[in-house]
Amino acid sequence: MEKSKVLIIGGTGYIGKRLVKASLSLGHETYLLKRPENSLDIDKLQLLMSFKEQGAKLVTASLDDHQSLVNAVKQVDVVVSAIAGVQHRGHYILQQLKLIDAIKEAGNIKRFLPSEFGTDVARMEHVSGPGKEMWHDKIEVRKAIEEAKIPFTYISSNCFAGYMLAGLCQFPAIEPHMDSVVLYGDGNVKGIFVDEDDIATYTIKTIDDPRTLNKTVYIRPPENILCQREVIQIWEKLSNKELQKSSISAQEFLGFMKGESYEMQSGVNHYYHVWF
Ligand SMILES: NC(=O)c1ccc[n+]([C@@H]2O[C@H](COP(=O)([O-])OP(=O)(O)OC[C@H]3O[C@@H](n4cnc5c(N)ncnc54)[C@H](OP(=O)(O)O)[C@@H]3O)[C@@H](O)[C@H]2O)c1
Repeated sequence: MEKSKVLIIGGTGYIGKRLVKASLSLGHETYLLKRPENSLDIDKLQLLMSFKEQGAKLVTASLDDHQSLVNAVKQVDVVVSAIAGVQHRGHYILQQLKLIDAIKEAGNIKRFLPSEFGTDVARMEHVSGPGKEMWHDKIEVRKAIEEAKIPFTYISSNCFAGYMLAGLCQFPAIEPHMDSVVLYGDGNVKGIFVDEDDIATYTIKTIDDPRTLNKTVYIRPPENILCQREVIQIWEKLSNKELQKSSISAQEFLGFMKGESYEMQSGVNHYYHVWF
């Protein structure tokens, strides 16, 4: 079977660059959106150029220029978006509505994968507090896709291991503490940790798979479903050292939001929803 041509939006981002690598290594003709807004960002340009050397095709287009997007979309069969969520720089998920308009007009797309890569947002409508927009905006994007009758796959990949696992689940740590660790409550709530390169590989594998058409794909390898205590045990074994443990209640944890930036508050709220 001939492999689909793929356009990746957000290809220089955290999960986006892994999607580009997976798409290239799985043999897809891979196109990357090169946004004119990035023309002075040397790191992004160098990354794009290195992908070009590996065989990717760069397509200049802006989410704010409808015709340029339509032209970009017309060159491929599948569009995968990895546009930023709320984590670092604000939330841009709704920008994808412009992409949906372009896909609708182009009329040739066999599959669209919006930027999801987290909890299944169909189950997150109840969420409130800082950062709720990310889930709510992803729900809006799904509605727009389905209203436009665009074939889709939604990827629910649960917790990125780099962010969540490496710091033993402690927000905002991204490396383990060497002496002590704070447990969320009793530390027995289960989380699902997935390596980001695996997420990218499974994502790209869905695009030509008829079983995933108009479906949500859950990436949750059974061995990666662990509570915080189990994660800590693995680290203690690896480091050959027992950590001192204390515990934090939900109320105390939510108290960390006070006086913090919106991004930090969103992070606390996201971790709260996973661990409490
Ligand atoms: N499950 C988890 O634990 C977890 C953790 C983090 C993120 N996520 C999810 O993964 C997805 C991608 O997040 P990420 O952390 O990989 O994102 P990111 O690295 O912060 O950014 C991804 C890309 O978004 C694009 N972008 C940023 N600002 C933009 C703007 N103003 N207009 C248009 N495009 C803009 C950029 O694309 P260019 O390459 O074109 O510059 C950037 O490379 C999101 O849906 C997020 O919610 C999940």
